[in-house]
Amino acid sequence: MSYECIIAEVRGDGERKTGLITLNRPKQLNALNDQLMDEMGQALLAFDADDSIGCIVLTGSERAFAAGADIPTMAPHTFISAFKSGLISKNWETILLIRKPVIAAVAGFALGGGCELAMMCDFIIAADTAKFGQPEIKLGIIPGAGGTQRLPRAVGKSRAMDMLLTARMMDAAEASTAGLVSRVVPAEKLMEEALTAAETINGFSGPSVMLIKELVNLAYQGPLKDGVAVERRYFHALFGTDDQREGMDAFINKRKPGFTQS
Ligand code: HXC
Repeated sequence: MSYECIIAEVRGDGERKTGLITLNRPKQLNALNDQLMDEMGQALLAFDADDSIGCIVLTGSERAFAAGADIPTMAPHTFISAFKSGLISKNWETILLIRKPVIAAVAGFALGGGCELAMMCDFIIAADTAKFGQPEIKLGIIPGAGGTQRLPRAVGKSRAMDMLLTARMMDAAEASTAGLVSRVVPAEKLMEEALTAAETINGFSGPSVMLIKELVNLAYQGPLKDGVAVERRYFHALFGTDDQREGMDAFINKRKPGFTQS
């Protein structure tokens, strides 16, 4: 299968191998558009169905894991168009259906939807260059793929509120202290570290691996679904505001936004 916005490859020479998915829109810092999410969904499902694959690694470029959902694509939406289309590909949540472990290998920016996508993976290995953030508030919107729900679970309420309300980024060291990432390694060692972790997992019993994943998620999620559903509805609603127009127009035209709280 050939893709335009991702690269999907098989790595390793053991009995069970690793599916490696690389987000590949480098000019847009891997901004997540529907095509990319659809391709990623297809690649994830194909690796999940392939008995020779034990584990999946999801990564971006040296500069960005992903700088968020694609802003120019989102900018023209109204509340009604966002609500009717579901705004964001249904494949945004395909990753949550995958029964094999998905490791995020994050270098550079993981912002907005990029941070949300990393948090949907089973664990995150970060390069020392990684920067995590939920800067949606700067665009006059809020996270729309679980950021307000998963970030507090990952780093605690106070730090999550701080990041979501001030839009500040967290570096790799802070992300490690906060528990958002499981390991931090020098950038040049990121892929080696992630692929070695995947190979270790590939060496274990597939059913044990899949059951551990299922049970840890059960422990972690609680009523998350309700929170994410409510979050999505408000995410859509914000496309009815002037501040969304202003925030996205300012980003696209490279100027400072002037919000009117309307
Ligand atoms: C589309 C983006 C983009 C994005 C960056 N680019 N982020 N394009 N969508 N989210 C593009 C820029 O327009 C620019 O294109 C190129 O990538 C390089 O970015 P620069 O800004 O020139 O780089 P730099 O100065 O290094 O700043 C990097 C950055 C900044 C800090 C990551 O680009 C930034 O703040 N990006 C937006 C981050 C963000 O707000 N993410 C949340 C989006 S909302 P050109 O053509 O000018 O070279 C979201 C909602 C999720 O994610 C909802 C889930 C459903």
